[in-house]
Amino acid sequence: MKPKYKTIALDGPAASGKSTLGERLADTLGYIYLDTGVMYRAVTLAALKAGIDINNEILVTTIAENMDLDVRAPSKADGRSNDIILAGQDVTWEIRQPNVESNVSQVSAYRGVRVAMTAKQREIGKRGQIVMVGRDIGTVVLPDADLKIYLDASVEERAKRRFLELVNRGKDAVFETIMIDMQRRDQIDSTRSIAPLKPAVDAKIVNSDQMTIDEVYQYILEMIVSKK
Ligand code: DC
Repeated sequence: MKPKYKTIALDGPAASGKSTLGERLADTLGYIYLDTGVMYRAVTLAALKAGIDINNEILVTTIAENMDLDVRAPSKADGRSNDIILAGQDVTWEIRQPNVESNVSQVSAYRGVRVAMTAKQREIGKRGQIVMVGRDIGTVVLPDADLKIYLDASVEERAKRRFLELVNRGKDAVFETIMIDMQRRDQIDSTRSIAPLKPAVDAKIVNSDQMTIDEVYQYILEMIVSKK
């Protein structure tokens, strides 16, 4: 299959299923997969490791501008979609920890942090044949992407999915806590002044409340294949 779409931008709120979907699409098409959320998580982790106050925008931005971050193809089959290498160290799983989770929305709202990350993402995007996943890929990072998808789902449905995912991994989880945290993150991500979470005007909006991830995958693949 040689699809016409060389750059695919996939945006949406937390736990909308976009990472799973993006990874599967990239795999099927033989494209690079880049989940840009990992970059904001890596900045947050680097700032926490350096003992910097997360409220200090200037210092956090300096970290983002100078950090040694590499996002590579996965070297292990342990469920990772990329290797995230920060200053030579594999932090692929560390960036998923609760202290990163609870600070990343704030860090990703800083203008200078976004400028630095957007530049890195565009550089990778230039390679083409890529599925790039995030919040502002269709609106800011790759406004000329060949296909833009905005994957949405209600906060209740997303919290339910995240809850089940944690329980299935044997973790302790409280549904209400997950939902409140998700609402808080949605609020920060969609109301920040720079690059807020929103669909691009030319994005195809897909609501997955009534669909399984398999159905969403088939639906979008169909869209891509029919444009062959
Ligand atoms: O998708 P995620 O949960 O890994 O994203 C982590 C945080 O980074 C989340 O608060 C939103 C933010 N983010 C962003 O602002 N822009 C992106 N392109 C990707 C993620």
